[in-house]
Parts: sequence; C-alpha cells; structure tokens
Amino acid sequence: MDERVTTTEEGPTKKSTVTAKPPPLEVHDLTVAYHRRPVLWDIDFAVPKGRLVGIIGPNGSGKTTLVKACLGLVPLASGWVRCFGKQPSEQRKRVGYVPQRESVDWDFPIDAIDVVMMGRYGGLGWFRKPGSKERKIAGECLRKVGMADYAKRQISQLSGGQQQRVFLARALAQRSDLYLMDEPFQGVDAATETAIVGLLNDIKAQGKTVLCVHHDLQTVTEYFDWVLLLNMRQIVFGPTEEVFTNENLRRTYGGRLNIISDVADAVARKLPDKSKDKWTG
Ligand SMILES: Nc1ncnc2c1ncn2[C@@H]1O[C@H](COP(=O)(O)OP(=O)(O)OP(=O)(O)O)[C@@H](O)[C@H]1O
Ligand SMILES: [Mg+2]
Repeated sequence: MDERVTTTEEGPTKKSTVTAKPPPLEVHDLTVAYHRRPVLWDIDFAVPKGRLVGIIGPNGSGKTTLVKACLGLVPLASGWVRCFGKQPSEQRKRVGYVPQRESVDWDFPIDAIDVVMMGRYGGLGWFRKPGSKERKIAGECLRKVGMADYAKRQISQLSGGQQQRVFLARALAQRSDLYLMDEPFQGVDAATETAIVGLLNDIKAQGKTVLCVHHDLQTVTEYFDWVLLLNMRQIVFGPTEEVFTNENLRRTYGGRLNIISDVADAVARKLPDKSKDKWTG
C-alpha cells in the first residue's frame, strides 16, 4: 500500500490511500519573530517516534522559542507545526512540557503534589476535580523522581534541583506520548542528572518521544540518539553519530555574530505584516 504523505503550506495532507502514522512532531518551514524581529527561521524537521532528541545551541539561539512554537505558545510568522498530525492546541493531552526554570513563578503558593496533579488535569475533562486516583498517580510520579517525601512542601521552599524534579514528575503524570523539556538538567547535581537520564530512557523504552534542550556538549552523544543543532536557523538535524560533528558545532557556535546581523536583517525585510506585534508574553 502507498504510504506516502504529501505536505503543503497548510499542513500535511493525506493522499486517498495513505495509512502512514504522522510523526510525533513535524515542523515545516517555520519562522518565529518577536516584535517583527525574527529569532528563528528555516526550521524544518520531523522527529521519528521513540527517539531522544537533544536541542543544542548557544544562549539566545531560539531553543526555548522553538519549544514554545511546538506547543503553540507563540505565534508563527510562517510555516506550521504538527503534533501527531494535528495542531499543537488539539494535542495538549499527548504533549508534556517541562519549562525552563527561570520562566516559572516559584513563589506561587502550591504544594509539590498539587504541581504534579496539574499534569493530570488534561486527562480529567472540564470541572472534574482530581480524586484519589489522580493523587495516587501524582504520588507515584513524585516517587519516581525521588521527591515522595516532599509532597506537602510548598514549591517555593524546595531547592532548585528539587523544583526541577517536581516539574519532571508533573510531566510524567500527564502520561504523554511526546515530551518537550527545556533544560531539565539545569541546576541539578550529578546524581539527579543520572536519575533523570534513566527516566528519559524509561520513557523512550515505552515508545514515547522526548525533545530536550541541552547545554552540556560533553554528554550529548551519551544522552541523545538524535540532535537538532540550532542557531536561530536550523544548522542540522539527524542521528547524533552522523550530524554531531566538529564542523557542525563550529557552524552552530562559531561566527554567530555574522549570522545575527546579516541574516536576521535580511529575513526581517521578507516577513509578512501578520507577525507584527502579535507577541505579548
Ligand atoms: N518574549 C520575548 N520578547 C522579545 N524577544 C524575546 C522574547 N523571548 C525571547 N526573545 C529573544 O529571542 C531570542 C531567542 O530566545 P530564546 O529564549 O528562545 O533563546 P534560548 O536559545 O532558549 O536561550 P537560553 O540558552 O539563554 O535559554 C533571544 O534573542 C531573546 O532575547
Ligand atoms: Mg532557553
């Protein structure tokens, strides 16, 4: 049977005989701009199911913006994103998110267990209060990240690494098929990092897909089987052993100033007006 899927500017369109399952995440010809200034462009990749993918690039290279675009949290200037063949907004239950630490209000008066329960709301439906089943799942997820003893502790009273683990537990509780994690190893000690890597591999073993923003170049080949190298534009995407090369790293981290000043201005001139001042976050 013909399993081809064609893609157009509007999104993937199936041919009449198509049966192939859409990939967990597909990004096509994506451009994102803040206040008309592009911060991401030429982004075009499809993540196969069951991979651990590292998103690698220098500070300000658009990693968080890409993650947010994949979640439908920032407007797109052009291109499209599909999660399992649908708009991100239609797939909230299937996509788990661990935000970058600095973007979270840790003073919000809420216990660790309640943060984790928030990961379950997508599975509950409107107006249903979480019950003992949800609480049990949330407790189990806290245990998996070694935080069971802190269930009733307010999140503002946890250390940075402990807060990070609570957010991982929250994503786990959602029982998603695709996870987007923005620097989950930031601010955790070596033992916690090893534990998180173990969790990621457990998730992968269940046939699920994980994208992780990651900074430590030393551990990339050990942790991730695919990588996306990013510096405002996509440098390369593919299996780690094929694309994580010195030459590609030099293209990602070297000559950055040239990329920003020359290409950003060139793309800005081409941007459609619809991107103007849409961003308010
Ligand atoms: N809300 C915003 N409004 C305007 N510009 C923004 C906004 N958020 C990010 N930017 C800019 O977009 C660019 C990409 O930012 P982004 O946060 O995606 O980078 P990053 O690769 O995640 O960096 P880091 O490694 O520091 O987390 C940066 O130049 C940043 O200043
Ligand atoms: Mg970031």
